[in-house]
Amino acid sequence: MKNNNPIEIAHNTYFIGVFDPDIRTFDIIMKTSNGSSYNAYLMKTSEGVVIVDTVKLEFQAEFFEKIEQLCSYDEIKYVICHHLEPDHAGAIPELINRAPQAKVMISPQATGMLKAITQKDNIDFETVWTNKSLNMGDKTIKFLTTPYLHWPETMSSYIEEDKLLFSGDVFGSHYYDKRLFDDLVGDFFYSFKYYYDHIMRPFKSYALNAIKLYDKFEINTIATLHGPILRDNPKKYIDYYRTWSQDDYKSISHGKKILSIFYLTSYKNTKDMAESIFEGAESVEGIIANVYDLASLEEQNMINILEESDGILIGTPTINSDAPKPVWDLLSCMMFLEKRGKMGGAFGSYGWSGEAVDMIIHRLKSLNFRVPPMENQKIKLIPTKKELQNCYEYGVEFAEILNGKMIEMTMN
Ligand code: FEO
Repeated sequence: MKNNNPIEIAHNTYFIGVFDPDIRTFDIIMKTSNGSSYNAYLMKTSEGVVIVDTVKLEFQAEFFEKIEQLCSYDEIKYVICHHLEPDHAGAIPELINRAPQAKVMISPQATGMLKAITQKDNIDFETVWTNKSLNMGDKTIKFLTTPYLHWPETMSSYIEEDKLLFSGDVFGSHYYDKRLFDDLVGDFFYSFKYYYDHIMRPFKSYALNAIKLYDKFEINTIATLHGPILRDNPKKYIDYYRTWSQDDYKSISHGKKILSIFYLTSYKNTKDMAESIFEGAESVEGIIANVYDLASLEEQNMINILEESDGILIGTPTINSDAPKPVWDLLSCMMFLEKRGKMGGAFGSYGWSGEAVDMIIHRLKSLNFRVPPMENQKIKLIPTKKELQNCYEYGVEFAEILNGKMIEMTMN
């Protein structure tokens, strides 16, 4: 039987979120084999009721049922919205209908989104940021500006008296377990890490900024927007994010630039080119070059290698006027990374037309890679000795530019 009772997570603070055990894909890109939850909270204070976030629209009936077990709608003074993605903002319009006197607290960046979601111009709302707080008598709410975790408008808040952090999506997991608290649920670590990799990893620098704010507080409990509530040594979860968000690969590069050369090959021709380019690049002092065969590289390894690379070169054959799928798969991994400042280029052997190299160059530019104005290494069928020598020199030149050699860059 479904237990629809609110669960107290801190003094007079209740979980009023909902469980979604059957969801298997979230936001198109994430597999959710353990389902998920849309966490929302209700705080009873001596100055009235505060609702903290809402739930996905299709679950709003259950959300309102929980609110009604705890208070009447006219007791609701504030609705704090840490994040306006629909999985958390779905019930806001109906909540405002039921509690029109409530003031909505959002970050300044959320203003336009709130109007778009509610399709109302007359909502009573206030924008808040770090150093602003709301005194609710026996509870003091301190707002924290934590943008891009993972949307521009995201924020967090801290309840001083309960040492409770509402972290938004940060520290979340897509992991349904009705036992709710991290010390009671099953082993959800894989999900916590997967969530970080797919949602927060592109925003590492913002994660580190948020952690600087969180570090100022003693935290007993972290109430996230998905998955278990974290109360068993919550600092350890903050430290995981801290570790994962630091550029730890710098320590393995010993101050050298990392150049990763990926290739896909049908008849060894593009592979031979890759190896000559590698030899050229490796001969340049200050460069660590590596070669990877895309035919046998797992996606997670692609992401890790791309992340640690200062520059990448992609070798692709042309098949049916296109680059083969593993090459595009590699580039699609860039969505999980901070892309700033990386250098890129492409090369390849072809049989007929050879468009793939130009396509990859075009894609690299649209992903904001710095593509140096060098002659593309496109070779028809089997590279000759002279052509392999050209590849070697291309490798030298690319590596030197990566290492800081000044060239005139044209605008992409
Ligand atoms: Fe859980 Fe970004 O929404």
